[in-house]
Amino acid sequence: MAEAVLAPAKINLVLEVLGRRSDGYHEIDTVLQTLALADRVSISEVATSSDAGVVVSGPRSDGVPADRSNLAWKAAVLLAERLRRDSSRLRVFIEKHIPPAGGLGGGSSDAAAVLRLLARAWPEATEDDLLDVATRVGSDEAFFLAGGTARAQGRGERVTKLAPLAHHGVVLFIPSATLERKTAQLFERLGRLPFDHSYRTSRFVAGPRGEFSASDLYNSFERVAFDVFPGLGDLRRSIESRIGGEVRLSGAGPTMFWIGPASATERVAALAAGVDCAVVATRTAD
Ligand code: C5P
Repeated sequence: MAEAVLAPAKINLVLEVLGRRSDGYHEIDTVLQTLALADRVSISEVATSSDAGVVVSGPRSDGVPADRSNLAWKAAVLLAERLRRDSSRLRVFIEKHIPPAGGLGGGSSDAAAVLRLLARAWPEATEDDLLDVATRVGSDEAFFLAGGTARAQGRGERVTKLAPLAHHGVVLFIPSATLERKTAQLFERLGRLPFDHSYRTSRFVAGPRGEFSASDLYNSFERVAFDVFPGLGDLRRSIESRIGGEVRLSGAGPTMFWIGPASATERVAALAAGVDCAVVATRTAD
């Protein structure tokens, strides 16, 4: 089990929130894409249960729970329970490169990587087992079992893999501040506005698959995010005026991204130098 796997970040290319459900969640329709930016995850079996748990290292480990509240640990325990396996001597190593709580799905991706690793060690695990556990851990985790380009519906757990898109360059703009109960708060705020109708996602899925930019994309959370995250609107204006193009919010934010020709990535990142957030150049990856 010692072999490490990559747990990629994601961006939402299109994200529509269609309505509130009776279980308190929201019905969404979104197209997600994995990126080259990734954490590294491995699992080992330790001799005593006192050494079991989660170890977090790497350049983005600040603020990531290195204990049993980590989603990756929850996923391991839930899968073990389902398969009647022993999780008491597992140790999960996470080397963080994806900034946490930014709308890039890092925690869910780590948890999905753990499920993939455990499925190799526990061959009786079926795709249904993995999907059931993923859905219980977080709404966007099922997507990471598929990766690449995919549409996610329902509360995010109904995932349909799409044909890979042309490769694009991506520049991430990552503010350091985030909010308590961020995702829940943004959904609550959106609930006070008229919901989306799924047209934009359907159109994107059916549309031609050439090169696109942020101005061809949509994220419903932008209707409320700039009121909720202090300073985010000013940051967006400052980024867009420097790079001369639009950026989109990823997931519930606050990370924003530029997307376009891979050959322009370094230039866009250089133009943005000096903005008041971390700037990370990466690319789409399947
Ligand atoms: O599933 P996850 O833990 O990522 O969701 C965090 C919170 O976001 C949920 O507790 C819920 O309030 C909200 N949510 C929602 N509809 C979704 C996904 C999340 O209302 N489809």
